Amino acid sequence: MSIYIHGTDDSEQRRLSLMNDVLLNSAMLREMQLRGNERILDLGSGLGQFTRTMGRAVPDGHVVGIERDEAQLAQALRLAENDGEAKLAEFRAGDALALELGDGWGTFDVAHTRFLLEHIPDPLAAVRSMVRAVRPGGRIILADDDHGVMRLWPEPAGWMSLWDAYMRAYDRIGNDPFVGRRLVQLLHEAGAAPVRNTWIFFGGCAGMETFPTLAANMAGVVNSARDAIVSLRLFDADAYDRVMAEYVRWSQRPDAALWFSVAWAEGVRG
Ligand SMILES: C[S@@+](CC[C@H](N)C(=O)[O-])C[C@H]1O[C@@H](n2cnc3c(N)ncnc32)[C@H](O)[C@@H]1O
Repeated sequence: MSIYIHGTDDSEQRRLSLMNDVLLNSAMLREMQLRGNERILDLGSGLGQFTRTMGRAVPDGHVVGIERDEAQLAQALRLAENDGEAKLAEFRAGDALALELGDGWGTFDVAHTRFLLEHIPDPLAAVRSMVRAVRPGGRIILADDDHGVMRLWPEPAGWMSLWDAYMRAYDRIGNDPFVGRRLVQLLHEAGAAPVRNTWIFFGGCAGMETFPTLAANMAGVVNSARDAIVSLRLFDADAYDRVMAEYVRWSQRPDAALWFSVAWAEGVRG
């Protein structure tokens, strides 16, 4: 059983929604170059915002989102209903590490996953299932974090030490904080032919309309793992709070810059 480091409380759900809506989805959708009729599998669909974004992009296709956590799944269904989009995508309970697709194996045109591989102990098993899920010639699209690319400038005192503790919390619970750099290798090892990789910029600076949301998101990412970081004794609780206070001051500076990118790779099943 893998541990999901961010948890699923209300503030975490709000953070994911903001991040999805404001920052990432259109850039990621552009990279996918969908034609409009694909059958898409989305592993670890979470609150389903990007699953629905893909659904809107394939009016003649179909999107199936697979999510292990009941709270996330229930909230995804609620959000879709509230937006009048209950039929846009199909959300199913399921475990990416023990995927059950019945007679759906080999029928999808695209298998997609974003921000899941960093949260599971065996990302290769999930990618193997994605390769098996698509038809011959079908595409496998992976998007995930390589936490090593984070830079803040001017750096708030203690920030990189705290970020380091955050990254170590990942490997202490058996997950890889650097899985982003492995995406092409994972595709190859899973039997797909890699065809493309890129970065999706996920940074910003003072003066950009999205910057407050972005800065709050990055704090939210780390704060959602605070309990894990402190209980694993990776960072002292008081020091944690001091660094976060520095971070908040930094985020209000007129020269604050946050540099981060999401790794993205595509492969094809032979
Ligand atoms: C960071 S969220 C990403 C959600 C969505 N893909 C996105 O990009 O907005 C990761 C999701 O993966 C789910 N998850 C974690 N382990 C899983 C597993 N083994 N099988 C399916 N979902 C899983 C978590 O519950 C969470 O909803």
